[in-house]
Amino acid sequence: MILVTGATGNVGRNLVRELLDAGEKVRAVTRNPAASGLPDDVEAVPGDLTRPETLPAALRGVDRAFLFPVHGALDAFLAAAENEGTRHIVLLSSDSVTFARPGWIGEQHLACEQAVADSAIPWTFVRPTVFMANDLAWAHGIRHGGTVRGVYGSGAMAPVDERDIAAIAAHALLTPHPGTTYELTGPHTLSQIDRVRIIGETLGVLARFEETSRDDVRGRLLDRLPPPAADFLLDQLAASRTEPVPTLPTVEQVTQRPARTYAEWVAHHAAAFVG
Ligand SMILES: NC(=O)c1ccc[n+]([C@@H]2O[C@H](COP(=O)([O-])OP(=O)(O)OC[C@H]3O[C@@H](n4cnc5c(N)ncnc54)[C@H](OP(=O)(O)O)[C@@H]3O)[C@@H](O)[C@H]2O)c1
Repeated sequence: MILVTGATGNVGRNLVRELLDAGEKVRAVTRNPAASGLPDDVEAVPGDLTRPETLPAALRGVDRAFLFPVHGALDAFLAAAENEGTRHIVLLSSDSVTFARPGWIGEQHLACEQAVADSAIPWTFVRPTVFMANDLAWAHGIRHGGTVRGVYGSGAMAPVDERDIAAIAAHALLTPHPGTTYELTGPHTLSQIDRVRIIGETLGVLARFEETSRDDVRGRLLDRLPPPAADFLLDQLAASRTEPVPTLPTVEQVTQRPARTYAEWVAHHAAAFVG
């Protein structure tokens, strides 16, 4: 039995599908099983990483687990997993842990990695770079007039498709190599201007990038992130204008097929961009 936490998220939902396709029995932890929309062949159980009393039952009979990094809340999960005999944990982390200045986000992920490394359970870390899924925030602008307002438009990252992150996590669960870290990117380094152009070309819709102020973008980021996280992301984007993020071959090396391109990701999410 494999337990997936974060199973309703961008990565977790795709991971569940990969594991079912591989013939594994999957249990998913969610704070609201009734609203999870998970496939019928998944055992969806109630659980909250910030409520330790919910965790032993979720971990009973589990031999491998995918751990979503709920910051500051992993110790109870790890203690319960040790008690219940879990034999391997795959932690979702971030490439920011490798930066010379990890920033607020990297520090949170480093603390999660440390907590897992301090447990007695063998582990694998999956450290993706920025998710292509972040660009779903542009869907509203594309649907309503075709304009994406952002800052540092020439800033170039190597975003990775969430299905490829899930594929690496599935590999780590199905073929555990204790102590391994997988750092992964998408197949191309693309500026925001490039990505908006690819959305337009792939879907045949009007799509253009319009430069706005850092404060404007920061204000929107603060709807879903704490201030130090928003500032960190904006600083990374600003730096990537002069230091574009390089690509890594991990997805292709591990899965034996090319990493999904940005155009493939756009086509997969066409409904979000065209309404
Ligand atoms: N976005 C990026 O560019 C990027 C890059 C590198 C790393 N990351 C890291 O990746 C993670 C985001 O992954 P994602 O996009 O797949 O997630 P997501 O779509 O934001 O979904 C969040 C998931 O976490 C679960 N969750 C949240 N709080 C929980 C709690 N207290 N107890 C149990 N489950 C909880 C939710 O489950 P329920 O709501 O069903 O309970 C949901 O499945 C973050 O840690 C982020 O730092 C992101």
